[in-house]
Amino acid sequence: MVIKDLVAKEIFEQSGYVAPAYSPGLIIRLDANENPFSLQEPLKKKLLEEMGKVDFNRYPKAGSPRLRERFAQYFGVDRDMVMLGNGSDELIQILCLTFKGKINGVLVPVPAFVMYKIIAVNTGNKVVEVPLEQNFDLDTEAMLGKIEINFPALVFLSYPNSPTGNLFSRDKIEAIIKKSPGVVVVDEAYAAFSGDTLVPLLKKYDNLIILKTLSKQGMASMRLGFLIGNKDIIAQLDKVRLPYNINSLSQIAANFFLDYSMEFASQVQEVIKRRAELYLALQEIAGIKPYPSRANFIYFSCIFDSDRIYINLTAAGIYVKNLNKPPRMTNCMRVTVGNLEENATFIKVLKSVISELGA
Ligand SMILES: Cc1ncc(COP(=O)(O)O)c(C=O)c1O
Repeated sequence: MVIKDLVAKEIFEQSGYVAPAYSPGLIIRLDANENPFSLQEPLKKKLLEEMGKVDFNRYPKAGSPRLRERFAQYFGVDRDMVMLGNGSDELIQILCLTFKGKINGVLVPVPAFVMYKIIAVNTGNKVVEVPLEQNFDLDTEAMLGKIEINFPALVFLSYPNSPTGNLFSRDKIEAIIKKSPGVVVVDEAYAAFSGDTLVPLLKKYDNLIILKTLSKQGMASMRLGFLIGNKDIIAQLDKVRLPYNINSLSQIAANFFLDYSMEFASQVQEVIKRRAELYLALQEIAGIKPYPSRANFIYFSCIFDSDRIYINLTAAGIYVKNLNKPPRMTNCMRVTVGNLEENATFIKVLKSVISELGA
């Protein structure tokens, strides 16, 4: 058997997403944009008690109807405008499967969240990439030009953008929604940290879909993503969604998140404070240029070899994201905002790594 002859060329040739293999022991994870704060013990106990009531021999509630209703209320939309996914990654996959083929592929600005391209390619879609402007805003002219020529079924935009952390201009996003023949997906994975949302625009545009996730707000382990939008689109997506995509434990965790949403919201506020401090600390290091962020991470470039910085940070047990890729992201990295101690340790070790490199 020659595997290469059996697998789609596009899948065979792409490298896929590589999650880091964290070394055992005490490490600081500032690479995956997780919430640095774990659940407080009494709350964790409550959640585990609820989970203990699960009938492990039974399938979960298909389609999670009660949760859809609760989250619709939470997001301020109608009940049939919400769909749940096993993380928003799964919802991106469902979108790419549903809209594949009829019209022409997927449009993404770059740099963007890498899974848009990986999932689009894996589901047999053609991907068109358009570089962002120098200030990381959308190049509307280039995007609209590609829309006219390529007629994409899906456009993916993150608001705030990952990995750059900025919010695209609203008028540019609206121009793209108006001109798109297909669906424009605005991914609000980091919206809690920006204090901004495009949810009100759902009333105005029937081709707008918004994605949300609990992964960045303290529930990454439970894999809970949300898609909000036009109920007629959701009716189609629902046919592609696997029946039991949200397992019973995750359904309990989702309800728990809503029951204690104030706790999670106060953690977000804390992260926002830490972000301002981390930004200033990075700014003070000669040779490092951090970019303002509306998310729970900071994108920065350096005048040093970021591969070496990454290796030395990892050796010290500190994981960040090395994005080093010419020309646009040469020697660029992304660091998740951690708690007070994690940020202080990261800054201290980063400084010593830079001085060791002889910079
Ligand atoms: C922009 C963006 N969207 C979606 C996701 C994935 O979220 P989830 O954990 O819900 O699959 C991420 C994760 O890093 C992200 O950065």
